[in-house]
Amino acid sequence: MIDNKTIAKFKDLPTPFYYYDLDVLRSTLDTLKKESEYSGYKVHYAVKANPNARILKIISSYGFGADCVSYNEIAASLEAGFDPSGIVFAGVGKTDKDIIAALNADIFCFNCESIPEMEVIDQLAAKLNKTASIALRINPYIDAHTHKYITTGIEASKFGINTWELEDVIKKLSLLKNIKLIGIHFHVGSQITRMSVFQSLCSRINELQEWFTSRAINLTSINVGGGLGIDYENPDKNPRFEEYFSLLNEFINLLPGQKLHLEPGRSIVGQCGSLISRVLFIKNGSNTTFAIIDAGMTDLIRPALYQAHHKIENLTSDGRMYRYDVVGPICESSDTFAKYIELPETKRGDLVAIRSAGAYGEAMASRYNLRDLPRAVFSDEL
Ligand code: LLP
Repeated sequence: MIDNKTIAKFKDLPTPFYYYDLDVLRSTLDTLKKESEYSGYKVHYAVKANPNARILKIISSYGFGADCVSYNEIAASLEAGFDPSGIVFAGVGKTDKDIIAALNADIFCFNCESIPEMEVIDQLAAKLNKTASIALRINPYIDAHTHKYITTGIEASKFGINTWELEDVIKKLSLLKNIKLIGIHFHVGSQITRMSVFQSLCSRINELQEWFTSRAINLTSINVGGGLGIDYENPDKNPRFEEYFSLLNEFINLLPGQKLHLEPGRSIVGQCGSLISRVLFIKNGSNTTFAIIDAGMTDLIRPALYQAHHKIENLTSDGRMYRYDVVGPICESSDTFAKYIELPETKRGDLVAIRSAGAYGEAMASRYNLRDLPRAVFSDEL
């Protein structure tokens, strides 16, 4: 909820901007910490969801690790105080520069996705006289039942090692002297709301564990990735951490000495952020009324790219309800935030909030049309 006091303070600020409610962020982190400590699981925040320096600092202060996908994300995580021994490094296309930065930082683990990648990590580690700890990202062939662009663990996916290649991977590993296999890694997709998907993943992991045990391969790290969805219809609702953790607890069979790792992104930061924008014009269309706002797909691309639904609230009107298409100013018809939604009578100058935008919002903003990047405003600065 964005309260009236906060809304009054928004009135003098230039729009659009991301508003981060730090109380929401902290209460989400409190719950996550409680659940993860109770289960003994290690959380690595998926930095890509929101790499804002202030947000990273708050998350690192809880003692969580980080899940990075580029040398810049590693640098930002270290800068924010994350311990290198809690950094995992993912990505299907790591560059040499990425790998060298990760080796130099002495991170916890590389999540490896192919034999050629393992070979390159081994060569670069040898040059630096280091041994890289790796986990194999395995494609578990599980449909996440989410948007196809953020489905990552089915047969057609570019991600992960196929199970039919595992025998070759193990043979190869025995030849690579600067790599040490410590675990297995999975990530089946993002914005997963069907809990049964995670249950299927647990079963698949249990099966795969047998495969490794039968070859006397000892794994200490089992990483289930991220993906827990949030409720975009109800921006004031918290993610279902309790249910998620108790499901993992119930269905995954960890062997003695093994630790479970996870990489949540959206569920940590999604609900604490809103994109705040001003209404520029109300324009009549043939069959609809457009509310043209000053935020566009450059500030929040999720609706245009994934047809994602974010709840939109008019913060400054309590008039009669009308239907609007809420659109941005960019010269593309995909620059639409919502179609035919009910809002109280909306006029030029009104402030609107596009909710649940803390994850993959500011992080994916671009300067298309040479627009300014959206600023970040924190609740404790107002
Ligand atoms: N681990 C790996 C290996 C990942 O690829 C991702 C996200 C995560 C963890 C974190 O997933 P989360 O808990 O946030 O679902 N831009 C898209 C989402 C892309 C997700 C990419 N990978 C969106 O706006 O929906």
